[in-house]
Amino acid sequence: NDPALGVGRLGIVRDAAIVVEVGAASASAEGPGTRDGMPDGGPASVGRVAWVGLIAAAPPADRVIDVGGRAVVPSFVDSHTHLAFAGDRAPEFAARMAGESYDGGGIASTVAATRGASAEALRARLAALVAEAHAQGTGTIEVKSGYGLTVADEVRLLRLSREVTGETTFLGAHVVPPEYAGRADDYVDLVTGAMLIECAPHARWIDVFCEPGSPHAFDGDQARAVLVAGRRAGLGLRLHAGQLGPGPGVRLGVELGAAAVDHCTHLTVADIDALTGSTTVATLLPGVEFSTRSPYPDARALLDAGVRVALATDCNPGTSFTSSMPLCIALAVREMHMTPAEALWAATAGGALALRRDDVGYLGVGAHADLTVLEAPSHEHLAYRPGVPLARSMALPPVADGA
Ligand code: NIG
Ligand code: FE
Repeated sequence: NDPALGVGRLGIVRDAAIVVEVGAASASAEGPGTRDGMPDGGPASVGRVAWVGLIAAAPPADRVIDVGGRAVVPSFVDSHTHLAFAGDRAPEFAARMAGESYDGGGIASTVAATRGASAEALRARLAALVAEAHAQGTGTIEVKSGYGLTVADEVRLLRLSREVTGETTFLGAHVVPPEYAGRADDYVDLVTGAMLIECAPHARWIDVFCEPGSPHAFDGDQARAVLVAGRRAGLGLRLHAGQLGPGPGVRLGVELGAAAVDHCTHLTVADIDALTGSTTVATLLPGVEFSTRSPYPDARALLDAGVRVALATDCNPGTSFTSSMPLCIALAVREMHMTPAEALWAATAGGALALRRDDVGYLGVGAHADLTVLEAPSHEHLAYRPGVPLARSMALPPVADGA
């Protein structure tokens, strides 16, 4: 998965060996998440890749693990989740499957449940979801706030998220909370003022749900205000854009140099033109279309235009309650006409680009040794065998002398 090969191109090596220097990750000061001793994006890293090549040419190692012909891929980079919440919305999902549509209104019920939950309950839920993701091959995970929507509640969610990942995102502008109903601009003032001041130290990114057609979310001007303020506070930019209908979000993200515009369910030709040649990644979240019974994004139009595409779960209790990157890969191949190689690239190298990380999402020398072993001979099986738990994050055993 060498980034130098280009978008969607895998660097497949058969009869391969990977040499890992165990403990090298903790000795490194690189990577955004190693600041302040935080985990660097997930629980997987145990070292760095020191060598990759043919088994026959491999240098000697202190310990050898034979994976028996199984495929080894970079651990998935899930660049978009909302794991800090309480409660669930199964009845809302059931109603949708019976014909209701999604407009973001259900977010308020998760906000109420989250505000009412103890820190211990939120921490336990978050840890369980991270463990669930890790068990399915995810090595780096982004986590957003956005179910607190008061200064204290957003800070609490970001602090908890910071315990599990360095990739934390301030999403105070998720929806207008009930106490600000009819006063969206006043709420934007809070988000860009006192809330941002308190939240920025705990976040790497800022995000906004830009959806002018929704009575709950934010229009282009409000989204711009949020992102510009976030940038001034030192945060990187990302957006929820084009989820419920076409809108200004994608072009706004490109204009402001956002790392990623996420959802892209509804794209115009102007959106694709803007993304083409930009550094902004289009992150597709097919779990959302699956769980809201919406049309899938036009991944082919993006890929054929040369846009850098990522896949992520969007794991949240409303629109996509799955932590499974393999499911997203299978949906991308079956429903969005991505090749298995494009889908794996998007779920690894694409996610890394969406988080502006050059140390994860591939298995070249110097990368984090986040290895995912497939119970299969090739990456194609991830889509070919949907729903089968093939992907396992590999825990490398420590060597006796700690070398
Ligand atoms: O990414 N669209 C906005 N936010 C989430 C959904 C949150 C929810 O419904 O609880 C999303 O789909
Ligand atoms: Fe989301």
